[in-house]
Amino acid sequence: MRKPFICGNWKMNKNVDEAEKMINNLKAKVKDVDNVEMGICSTALCLTTVKEAAQGSELVTGAENIYWKDSGAYTGEISAKMLAASDIEYTIVGHSERREIFGESDYEVNKKVLSALAHGVKPIICVGETLEERKAEQIEAKVNFQVDSALAGLTEAEVADLVIAYEPIWAIGTGETASAEEANRVIGIIRENIRKEYPEAADKVRIQYGGSVKPHNVEEIMAQPEIDGALVGGASLEAESFSEIILKTA
Ligand code: G3H
Repeated sequence: MRKPFICGNWKMNKNVDEAEKMINNLKAKVKDVDNVEMGICSTALCLTTVKEAAQGSELVTGAENIYWKDSGAYTGEISAKMLAASDIEYTIVGHSERREIFGESDYEVNKKVLSALAHGVKPIICVGETLEERKAEQIEAKVNFQVDSALAGLTEAEVADLVIAYEPIWAIGTGETASAEEANRVIGIIRENIRKEYPEAADKVRIQYGGSVKPHNVEEIMAQPEIDGALVGGASLEAESFSEIILKTA
């Protein structure tokens, strides 16, 4: 009942020409897919190019980050209000690279989630533990704290429509993946935690796995009952590998 969502996160890759070429190429490869939601999150620079190139396909578009204010003297930032004006459907919020490299806090993640929702932009909220936290058996405490913080102040209907991405930090860009069973277990923990406060929304919220998802492992990951899709970094940069991931999910 939850439609799988395969979403690429290009991170700080691709100029405008490369973005347009990739989307044109990708569109042709996935044109017959209707049972998987497909999306690309790009830099702010490429967003409208991706959006325009995706016309006539089912591909949705997302930003990689926002600031929570609507406008003003915030040099270098973009807002959910701006995304909404360009019909950008999604934004990633709280990616571990934002948290670790740019010091983004759980408080800021919550403000961004609230701002996105206020403008009708759907947040993809990233959570996940470090290797040290995993070794110290703190996975559950860490992800539940991140989710609880991110969801503060949301209505049940808003939670039901959210996307959460469970991305163990040690699995991002490393070629290491959590085993499919382990990813499924942690995602199950996240869902049960959500159920405590949002019993109606828990079975509706989509929870993706992210961390070295590739064409060769996506089937095993997507076969898990709790996993509702993938947030794909490296393998989303080429139409060949990203379309293969989508087609193996469909
Ligand atoms: O947002 C995507 C994740 O950070 C995963 O990246 O597929 O390159 O490991 P990756």
